[in-house]
Amino acid sequence: MAPALAVSGIAKHFGQQTILGGIDLEVRPGEIVALIGPSGCGKSTLLNILSGLLPPDAGHISIGGARTTGFDDWRRVAYMFQEDRLLPWRTVRDNVSFGLEGSAVPRGERRRRTADALRLVGLDGVATAWPHELSGGMRSRAALARSLVVQPAVLLMDEPFSRLDPQTRSQMHDEVLRIQADSGMTVIFVTHDMEEAVVLADRIIRLAPHPGRIVEALEMEDLPRPRIPTEPEVAERIRQLRVRT
Ligand SMILES: Nc1ncnc2c1ncn2[C@@H]1O[C@H](COP(=O)(O)OP(=O)(O)O)[C@@H](O)[C@H]1O
Ligand SMILES: [Mg+2]
Repeated sequence: MAPALAVSGIAKHFGQQTILGGIDLEVRPGEIVALIGPSGCGKSTLLNILSGLLPPDAGHISIGGARTTGFDDWRRVAYMFQEDRLLPWRTVRDNVSFGLEGSAVPRGERRRRTADALRLVGLDGVATAWPHELSGGMRSRAALARSLVVQPAVLLMDEPFSRLDPQTRSQMHDEVLRIQADSGMTVIFVTHDMEEAVVLADRIIRLAPHPGRIVEALEMEDLPRPRIPTEPEVAERIRQLRVRT
């Protein structure tokens, strides 16, 4: 099967600085990949490129085996930003349906998909609420629903749960794993939290700076799920990652 996402020789410069120095990466369909590495090593820049928001200076990206050429190729790549970016003047439902704005999906189908996405993240009861009425965890769920409404083949997430308290974050991890298992979508996420990386990822990829590049890839598929951070084997992996960081 073709990789869900294949990245070849991706480079990016800002001014004189080489931010990404040639990134090669293949992600299998349904794989969950964690990107880790120190602040400023180019993780967000890489996700911006993978999402189609930022053109690379060199290299190319294939999605589902097809080389990307234009905007339409990215329709099924969703991007969950570090901030939830909910629009305060829209209800929860209208924030979620925003994910489909500008797409060719007809109105009835949009309504149905929006309702599905809200149900999937457990927000169907607050569809008409305003973002300011939501807790941090619910805002995060709304942002996730807005990503899911496009029925993404690839979901990109940039430190999506870093602002949540540990218990809420752990609930979001369960949601992501459940939704991924149901949908089969591919997930690539950035994190500073080694517990998050170990609990979620099939593979952990470490980047180093100057220029941003991949220095290590750790297969995690041998670690059984569900991964409870307090279980010895899981705790040990988290510890090992922390000492190497
Ligand atoms: N639009 C930009 N213009 C100039 N420099 C940038 C821009 N975006 C990011 N950078 C620089 O690129 C480097 C990598 O940034 P970033 O991708 O945000 O890192 P990370 O997400 O790993 O913390 C940093 O040194 C940052 O200052
Ligand atoms: Mg970043």
